[in-house]
Amino acid sequence: MTEAGFDSPAAVQTGLRRFDYLADDRIAQVVFLADRLGKPILVEGPAGVGKTELAKALAAMAGRRLIRLQCYEGLDESKALYEWNYKKQLLRIQADTSTAWSELEEDIFSEEFLLPRPLLEAIRSAEPVVLLIDEVDRVEVETEALMLEVLSDFQVSIPELGTVVAATQPLVVLTSNNTRELSEALKRRCLFLHIEYPSVEREKEILMARVEGLSDQLADQIARLVRSVRNFQLRKPPSVSESIDWARTLLALGVDEVEPDTAQGTLHVLLKYQDDIDKVSRDLRSVPSDTVGT
Ligand SMILES: Nc1ncnc2c1ncn2[C@@H]1O[C@H](COP(=O)(O)OP(=O)(O)OP(=O)(O)O)[C@@H](O)[C@H]1O
Ligand SMILES: [Mg+2]
Repeated sequence: MTEAGFDSPAAVQTGLRRFDYLADDRIAQVVFLADRLGKPILVEGPAGVGKTELAKALAAMAGRRLIRLQCYEGLDESKALYEWNYKKQLLRIQADTSTAWSELEEDIFSEEFLLPRPLLEAIRSAEPVVLLIDEVDRVEVETEALMLEVLSDFQVSIPELGTVVAATQPLVVLTSNNTRELSEALKRRCLFLHIEYPSVEREKEILMARVEGLSDQLADQIARLVRSVRNFQLRKPPSVSESIDWARTLLALGVDEVEPDTAQGTLHVLLKYQDDIDKVSRDLRSVPSDTVGT
C-alpha cells in the first residue's frame, strides 16, 4: 500500500487550506481514513459543493499527479482502461509481409501498441497518483463493474498481455451527483462522504480564499444571503460556485454592501431559472432594506 501519510485529520485540513480548499471536520476525517485504510472515497452531494475540487486539492497537497477519468453515458472499456492502437498495428502488418502471422500477432499485441486510458495509467504509474473518477453515476452498471475490479484488486487483466498489477496504489476519489443509485458492491468498497452546502462561516472562508479583494464584511453578508436564498423551495439552489460568481460580480460593480436593489439586479448570477429569480425577487421586495443580510 502506498499511503500519502497524512498525520491526522487536522493535518489534512491545514494541508488542503494551503491549496484554498476549506474542508470541514467530516471531509478531513474521511480523507485521512481513506489514505490510512487504502480505500477509495465516494463523494456525493449537490452540484458545485466542491466534490471535484477536493480531488484536485488533494493531489496538490500530496504532491501527486492527478489522473482524471471523466465519466459519461456510453463510456466503455476502451476509454476507461485501454485500447489497442489499430492504426499503428495495421501499418506494422502492411509494412511487414515476410513475417509469419503468429509472430506478427505477438508483436502487434505488445506494450508498444497499447494505448493506456486513465484507469490503467493510474495503476501503472511508478509514482503514486490521485485518481479522480468524476461523475461515476453517469456510466452504465457494466462499466461500473469494470471499475470495481480495478478498485478492489488494483490490477487490470489484458487478455493478450497478461495481468498488470499496480506498482503503487492510487488515492482514489469518485464523485457522484446521484442521478442514479450506485451498486451496493461499489459502495461497499468505498468510504462514503456526503458534502452539503457549507455553513455560513465556512462559505465565508471559501469566498475569502477564492475571491481576491473581497472584504470580510461583504463576504459575511454574501454568505448569509446565499444561505437564506437556499432556504427557498427552488428548482436549483445556488451552489458555492455561484456564490463565488456573485461575490466577483458585486466586487466588479464596486458594491461594498448588498442593498435589496443590487441583490435584485444581480440575482441572475446566483440563480439559473426565471421561476427561482421571481420567487426570490418577490421576497426581497417585501423585506425592509435594513434587515437584508442580517
Ligand atoms: N470547500 C471548498 N473550498 C474551496 N473552494 C470550494 C469549496 N467548495 C467549492 N469550492 C469552489 O466551488 C467551485 C465548484 O466546485 P466543484 O467543481 O468541485 O463542484 P462539484 O461538487 O464537483 O460540482 P458538480 O457536481 O457540478 O461537478 C470550485 O471551483 C471552488 O472554487
Ligand atoms: Mg464536479
